Amino acid sequence: MIKQAIIPLAGLGTRLLPLTSVFAKELLPINGKPGLEYILEECVDAGIKEIIFIISKKKMMIKKYFYNDKFYKDIIKKKNDLKVIEEYKKILKYRKMIKFVYQNKPKGTGDAVLKTKRFIKDKYFLMLLPDDLIIKKNCSKSMIRSHKNYKASIMASMTVNKKSISRWGIFNLNKKLNKTDYTIKGVVEKPSIKQAPSNKAVIGRYILPKTIFSKLLKLKPGNGGEIHITDAIQSLINDNEKFIAHNFLGKYLDCGTLNGYINSSKEISKL
Ligand code: G1P
Repeated sequence: MIKQAIIPLAGLGTRLLPLTSVFAKELLPINGKPGLEYILEECVDAGIKEIIFIISKKKMMIKKYFYNDKFYKDIIKKKNDLKVIEEYKKILKYRKMIKFVYQNKPKGTGDAVLKTKRFIKDKYFLMLLPDDLIIKKNCSKSMIRSHKNYKASIMASMTVNKKSISRWGIFNLNKKLNKTDYTIKGVVEKPSIKQAPSNKAVIGRYILPKTIFSKLLKLKPGNGGEIHITDAIQSLINDNEKFIAHNFLGKYLDCGTLNGYINSSKEISKL
């Protein structure tokens, strides 16, 4: 069973400047609701019981969003507004599930994962990257199903345009297991079109084994001076850990860029 999820939230969000110079991009409303809440809903619906947020001092706004009791209580005392009570209840429900850890220097996704080391209890855990929304089908849920079937680590996968290859982690596929799942030989972070082993990209959903922490501890910074989760995954594959690329069926929405963010609102409003 996968019961714990982690969400890296310490990123600077430079693709959304100047907004992100004062605001946490994960709280920007998409069709009226913070992007982060879509990610939380996906977790809850997939059976996750505990969620670890990796934030930074600059992103304290995210913690405040879940801990602003006085604000709610004062309003509720003044007028018994049912809508406000509902929203407060929702916040309290999420709060019970969330723990916070800190990554104060943006040293990459691998470094963010490492900060959760002492909290991970089971053999496997889920990671969701908040820039990547997947709607219409719960991607985490179907990945957990594949994980149960194959007793393997799983990463979400999508076919991407060749021109955009250097923006993604790219899979080197091995064997087809069924309509949606492939074992992989490897994964490389942001290769050039020439070096790319395929046009199947990693999307931000991962079921990772606890053994990844020992790999991360030894890892040297890679591309751009960051510690990449992709490099730790490759190191596990080299040690014969089974990794599967899962072609999810939902629709992918990129919320990390302004155009993507605007489009996400449009797509979600059509649901
Ligand atoms: C991260 C991962 C990359 C993956 C992408 C999916 O990159 O490092 O392998 O393809 O998320 O969104 P980032 O978006 O942080 O540059």
